[in-house]
Amino acid sequence: MIILRNVWKIYKLGNNKVYALKNINLKIDEGEFIIIMGPSGSGKSTLLNIIGCLDKPTKGEVYIDKIKINNLDDDGLTKIRRDKIGFVFQQFNLIPVLTALENVELPMVFKYRNVDDKVKRKRALKCLKMAELDEKLANHYPSQLSGGQQQRVAIARALVNNPKIILADEPTGALDSKTGKKIMELLKKLNKEGKTIVVVTHDQELAKFGDRVVYIKDGEIKDVY
Ligand SMILES: Nc1ncnc2c1ncn2[C@@H]1O[C@H](COP(=O)(O)OP(=O)(O)OP(=O)(O)O)[C@@H](O)[C@H]1O
Ligand SMILES: [Mg+2]
Repeated sequence: MIILRNVWKIYKLGNNKVYALKNINLKIDEGEFIIIMGPSGSGKSTLLNIIGCLDKPTKGEVYIDKIKINNLDDDGLTKIRRDKIGFVFQQFNLIPVLTALENVELPMVFKYRNVDDKVKRKRALKCLKMAELDEKLANHYPSQLSGGQQQRVAIARALVNNPKIILADEPTGALDSKTGKKIMELLKKLNKEGKTIVVVTHDQELAKFGDRVVYIKDGEIKDVY
């Protein structure tokens, strides 16, 4: 499903080079739940962004669902992201002037231009249900929701174009530990329903939700367990 072969990410800052990823080799099978852990600055977000086609490696090959992404231009990368990947972020990244339901509908606007609004609405409601948000909250604005509820909306939004892969960078980082566990339980449920999931976290407590933990330090994979 996801293959990284000899992947390097090198940032140039003036005369300095930052080796954010050093020769990463990683294979993630369809239906796996992977946790990426490691200290701050170790390259976790860089790795997730490359898996998510938000960024390209400096060297090495990346395959997403058998498609080699190295040769794709920006439009090609955008299409892969839109069709295959759902993103979840630490700060939820909801649009404040849109309701929960409208936030979830938004990604469909770009993918299903010709689909009837009612069909889109129904699909968005279904995804809010999958994310276990109380139906009564669908017309609330983000500011009227708790952090955990906002993250459920963000997860519903990630599901709406029916991606095979969900990527989450510190999805529980802005939540208390009890709410964070609930969000991980939700991701686990979605994994059991067939999604391939990769979660970056600092929290050792959350490692148990994964099938495998990839531990990265100074841009290198140190351990997989
Ligand atoms: N756009 C960039 N330009 C230059 N250096 C960068 C850039 N993005 C990241 N880096 C550097 O690459 C390294 C890895 O960063 P990354 O954000 O992947 O770490 P991280 O493991 O996600 O850290 P954190 O846990 O704090 O989120 C860091 O040294 C960082 O400073
Ligand atoms: Mg990070």
